[in-house]
Amino acid sequence: MQSTRRGFIKQVAGGVVGSLTLNTLPGTSALPFIVSPDDEEAWKKIREQFPLTHNRVYFNNGTMGPSPYPVIDAIKQALVDVDTRGEVDGWEAARPKAASFVKVDSTEISLTHNTTEGINIVAWGLPLKRGDEVILTTHEHAGNALPWLNRAHLDGIVLRTFTPASTAGETLTRISDLISPKTRAIAVPHITCTAGHVLPEKEIAKLGREKGLWTFFDGAHGPGMLPLDLKDIGCDFYAACGHKWMCGPKGTGFLYVRKEMLDVLQAKFIGAYCDTGWDLTTEPQEFKGYVPTAHRFDYATQSAPVFIGLAATVDFLNTIGRENISQRSRALAAHLQSKLLELGDRIDMLTPTEEGSRGAIVGFRIKKMPYDRFGQYAAKKGFRIRLVPESHLNSIRVSTHFYNSMEEVDRFAEVVKEVA
Ligand SMILES: Cc1ncc(COP(=O)(O)O)c(C=O)c1O
Repeated sequence: MQSTRRGFIKQVAGGVVGSLTLNTLPGTSALPFIVSPDDEEAWKKIREQFPLTHNRVYFNNGTMGPSPYPVIDAIKQALVDVDTRGEVDGWEAARPKAASFVKVDSTEISLTHNTTEGINIVAWGLPLKRGDEVILTTHEHAGNALPWLNRAHLDGIVLRTFTPASTAGETLTRISDLISPKTRAIAVPHITCTAGHVLPEKEIAKLGREKGLWTFFDGAHGPGMLPLDLKDIGCDFYAACGHKWMCGPKGTGFLYVRKEMLDVLQAKFIGAYCDTGWDLTTEPQEFKGYVPTAHRFDYATQSAPVFIGLAATVDFLNTIGRENISQRSRALAAHLQSKLLELGDRIDMLTPTEEGSRGAIVGFRIKKMPYDRFGQYAAKKGFRIRLVPESHLNSIRVSTHFYNSMEEVDRFAEVVKEVA
């Protein structure tokens, strides 16, 4: 089981990445080496760590990030281990790892099973009353639309929406314009699922603080695409998953709850490990209270293998380097975007071209071909992409991650050119 991982270290240390040296071992958060975003040979070696099929080009990391062997091996090993020992523990390994990955304290991390679970904890935990307003975008994924719509439906809160703009400045203005005396929270994606707009997270959090609002980010696409420092961003809550850009186990996620928000956000679902003591045999019955950490939002028995897999994911990503991964995936997307922009008015580019407002997702339409027909055509040509009917965008979405190559991007751009 360990051999794949050792093989990986050896490959990298053995000069695969040219003049680079591996000077730390997995498990440390320092950048182990610098891989140039355009060093195709180095990235090819890293691609070998993924069992992902070569029969098609996988451009759908925005939906699901395939895991590399070291992560799969860690899960397999833990599966066997749990049933060998007859002990179910082990999932706590993920909490400090997830915390270090986004640079917060592990007491501020709740382990969840996907992004949507974290979103629901916030949407239901904020003490909102009928008529209170929450700001969202018109580009939400169902995961950040439905929990808030449900709260509006059941509790009468009011949702106000804006469309993400192509520049950070304009997006900020649109949010500002929506703030009223009734606004209580800004609850927006860090990166939209539709066209990959990267919203100005730090400025939004600052605006929220200045106006006395809670700021929450749906961070489904954040960790693994961008190196995150949530303290620097300054938001109150951030919900993420392990299964997209981190390429971790499916069914893992985490929610950041800023320390000062622990007693603001109400814990609606609790169970074992959430409390500091209880007793039903006394009169009156006793509930001592919640643990002084974000563990109060997750409870009971968890799947140790997947969370051990999440911890291994953080080690894997740190071994390559969060900055390296981010630069590579964004360089691939920037390359694709520039190729598509060469097609001029034959396409509609939906992803911002402003550097800080784009990441590793490119969204566009081809004027001459409906998006769903292009989807079928691209599939025939061997590309796995995502179509975006959401928000009536009817567009095409390509996610590029560090296992993709410039050659794959070029090939895809040629297919678009041919059709356009
Ligand atoms: C922006 C955004 N939010 C939330 C989700 C839901 O994520 P999860 O399946 O982890 O709950 C997605 C999934 O694609 C997404 O793109």
